[in-house]
Amino acid sequence: MPATVTLTVNGIAHAFALPGDTPLLYVLRNDLALNGPKFGCGLGECGACTVLMDGIATRACVTRLASAEGRQIVTLEGLGTPEAPHPVQAAFIAAQAAQCGYCLNGMIMATVAFLKRTPHPTEAQARAALRHNLCRCGTHVEILKAVLLAAEALAHGEATP
Ligand code: FES
Repeated sequence: MPATVTLTVNGIAHAFALPGDTPLLYVLRNDLALNGPKFGCGLGECGACTVLMDGIATRACVTRLASAEGRQIVTLEGLGTPEAPHPVQAAFIAAQAAQCGYCLNGMIMATVAFLKRTPHPTEAQARAALRHNLCRCGTHVEILKAVLLAAEALAHGEATP
């Protein structure tokens, strides 16, 4: 019988009796039905599965459940709602930064973490921050625009969780 692992996801504590090496992404998607984080490569390469772990952008596909013990996990679902999107989500909508949309979870979560660290970024800094998040449709221009729009919105005091 595996030991119980407890973690907090979007503000709610959960206990899982699962093997410690279960990928966090599987737990989020299969056990908690949080489908914001996507399975892309499964190898930590594409960024589609990104969540925040204690505020740090983290690839859930290569994070073991045991490593998430006691940590605060935030998924895309924990940022905002369709009625009240997070400023970063609102900026991605305003910039029409989605084509197929598969990478957007990772782009948005990485942007939230980046703008916490770098609230007034240059375009070069935004480009560097997202360089390891892959978009196969090629909407990078709109994504960069969204990051800078979000930075502006946050600088004007829009609330974040
Ligand atoms: Fe996790 Fe690609 S699915 S980095």
